[in-house]
Amino acid sequence: MANNGPILVTGAAGQLGAVGRTVTSLLLERGLPVRAMVRREDDRAAALRAAGAEVVVGDLLEPADVYRVVSGCPRVYFGMSVSPSYLEATVTMAAVAREVGVSALVNMSQMTVSQMSIQNTTPSPQQRQHWLSEQALAWSGLPVVTIRPTVFLEGFFLPLAGPSVRARNRIELPFGRGKTNPVSSADVARVVASVLAEPGPHVGRIYELTGPRSQDMHGVAREYSDALGREVTYADIPPEDWERELKQAGLPEHLTHHLVTMAELNRAGRYDRLADGVERVTARPAMSVQEFVSLHADEFGGRRT
Ligand SMILES: NC(=O)c1ccc[n+]([C@@H]2O[C@H](COP(=O)([O-])OP(=O)(O)OC[C@H]3O[C@@H](n4cnc5c(N)ncnc54)[C@H](OP(=O)(O)O)[C@@H]3O)[C@@H](O)[C@H]2O)c1
Repeated sequence: MANNGPILVTGAAGQLGAVGRTVTSLLLERGLPVRAMVRREDDRAAALRAAGAEVVVGDLLEPADVYRVVSGCPRVYFGMSVSPSYLEATVTMAAVAREVGVSALVNMSQMTVSQMSIQNTTPSPQQRQHWLSEQALAWSGLPVVTIRPTVFLEGFFLPLAGPSVRARNRIELPFGRGKTNPVSSADVARVVASVLAEPGPHVGRIYELTGPRSQDMHGVAREYSDALGREVTYADIPPEDWERELKQAGLPEHLTHHLVTMAELNRAGRYDRLADGVERVTARPAMSVQEFVSLHADEFGGRRT
């Protein structure tokens, strides 16, 4: 199938990693037509429309909605919030993409899947669903491109670490002595946009994405210090206390379970990874922790000069 027609970007109003939103802007900047799928009409939908996207409203769990939004779009980015129905949404998308016929389906997954097998899964229901989703997409025979990022800087390292960095100059996370190599979701979006712009050479490939350096949290804290011009340290906190805080903050059970598993895997050294997907696809190196913290200095309490 040719690439004529708009590129469908799901989860386009996202605010956490906001991969869909950033992919939408990057494709529009390249002059490519984008159909941006959102869950509801709101300010975020209006902003996407003002930027030049065709905005469509729909639910990724409603097959008729998915059929309506995919129809006419040969290239699709599929990603949505961490949710208990992730597998159902993936399989719905696969069924529709087979029916409609697409030239590329770019699937957001997770790097943890690289270490998973039938005998070796993880306790995270989200990671298990990504693993099963990848299996189902492989059986589908669709022209899939798989994106497997490690943990996003925009997750643990900003909303979850930001408050203690602002208040006490300390990153308080239960990561123990494990090494980690977070990637910016802005880099992930650059990879997805490059693939969607010209999917041909990428179909069938799996891209693992990390930042440029794997290091323990004391190393990460040094990068925060350099970016903020003040000393930031790392404090390992008891996982049970952290889990209690997440529950008290009212996070959904599925997400809490996922975050607690990610912290456990970090402590076990399972996030000690280095992959070159960002540079390979975009010809630009991945953002470092220091660059990321510099860009978001105000959210960490500002830079001391
Ligand atoms: N955070 C990490 O560290 C990390 C690492 C590796 C991979 N990932 C993967 O990245 C993906 C999340 O990407 P992201 O952070 O860019 O997402 P995000 O910013 O949270 O945006 C996701 C969007 O999906 C929309 N959505 C949720 N359920 C929907 C439904 N039923 N129908 C239509 N839209 C729906 C949400 O709409 P509303 O805004 O209206 O709710 C939201 O705008 C997940 O697959 C996750 O596993 C994350």
